[in-house]
Amino acid sequence: MPAERWEGPVDEQEAPDDRPITRAEADTSVLEQRPRISPLEDCPAEPGTPKPDAILVADQVSRTYGGLRAVDVEHLELQRGVITSLIGPNGAGKTTFFNLMTGFDRPDTGRWSFNGRPLARVPAYKVARRGMVRTFQLTKSLMRLTVLENMKLAAVDQRGERFFSALFPGRWRAQEAAIERRADELLERFKLDHMRDEFAGTLSGGQRKLLDMARALMVEPEMVMLDEPMAGVNPALTQSLLGHITGLRDRGMTVLFVEHDMDVVMGISDWVVCMAEGRIIAEGPPDKICMNRAVIDAYLGTRHDEPGYEGEGQA
Ligand SMILES: Nc1ncnc2c1ncn2[C@@H]1O[C@H](COP(=O)(O)OP(=O)(O)OP(=O)(O)O)[C@@H](O)[C@H]1O
Ligand SMILES: [Mg+2]
Repeated sequence: MPAERWEGPVDEQEAPDDRPITRAEADTSVLEQRPRISPLEDCPAEPGTPKPDAILVADQVSRTYGGLRAVDVEHLELQRGVITSLIGPNGAGKTTFFNLMTGFDRPDTGRWSFNGRPLARVPAYKVARRGMVRTFQLTKSLMRLTVLENMKLAAVDQRGERFFSALFPGRWRAQEAAIERRADELLERFKLDHMRDEFAGTLSGGQRKLLDMARALMVEPEMVMLDEPMAGVNPALTQSLLGHITGLRDRGMTVLFVEHDMDVVMGISDWVVCMAEGRIIAEGPPDKICMNRAVIDAYLGTRHDEPGYEGEGQA
């Protein structure tokens, strides 16, 4: 270690100086590339509303920790091929909902299906094999492995061990080469190819988020669930992340995306779902959600049973 304190890597390529980027300077073009005709145009903006082509459907899914109902989702459908943002104040149950849907945690009650196939009791690596992968709020990259090794491991993790691979080494080598090719393509797409053989621990926070997303794509999923991919990322890299997310949608992928920055949510989403205290309290297109009474109350902390509350949330 050098004598001076190491401040950690910076996103040198994306931000050549430390000057904050103003909104006027930022390239917001990625935020303006929403499809002209949304398949959800005719969907009523209300919790549990049916979607014309739902890829994920959840019913009566609940999870309690001690006395606390972390998730209590009556009915939710997510439309295929669009970006849905999942918003809600801290502790609303967003991450727990991700964990339940992807097999990283088990609900107390409920059922849910992906592409029409039930997913209850299906382990996480099999959920990934069926085409639904997620990233974590805190990075799961292994710092003492190289960027490439992290990518390869993501493919193996999500495919599970294959017994016959051990019996046919030739086939295994061919598969390994294909995995490495896929990893290199993704690293290039996410502009991480120059870091391929560096330890993941040397990446900046923003680059780690890109690596998380690239790792999730190793199995060519149909749906990705991104848990705060933007948190702690500098504004220049934020634009590139947003570009990647809209790019996924434009390639036909379904995206569920947890984000706290409302400007980002309003700009990027085709549909917004809001959770509070474990429940879905509102759903709708971004322009309706930002004016929804229940959503505003949830963020401001108003409780509906408090004196002074006037009426139900309106879209
Ligand atoms: N493993 C756990 N054990 C006990 N309580 C938990 C556990 N995981 C989550 N919780 C609680 O469940 C509730 C929902 O948490 P969760 O992390 O899902 O919220 P979130 O919407 O993702 O919040 P944030 O925006 O802060 O990430 C919180 O009250 C949290 O404290
Ligand atoms: Mg969370």
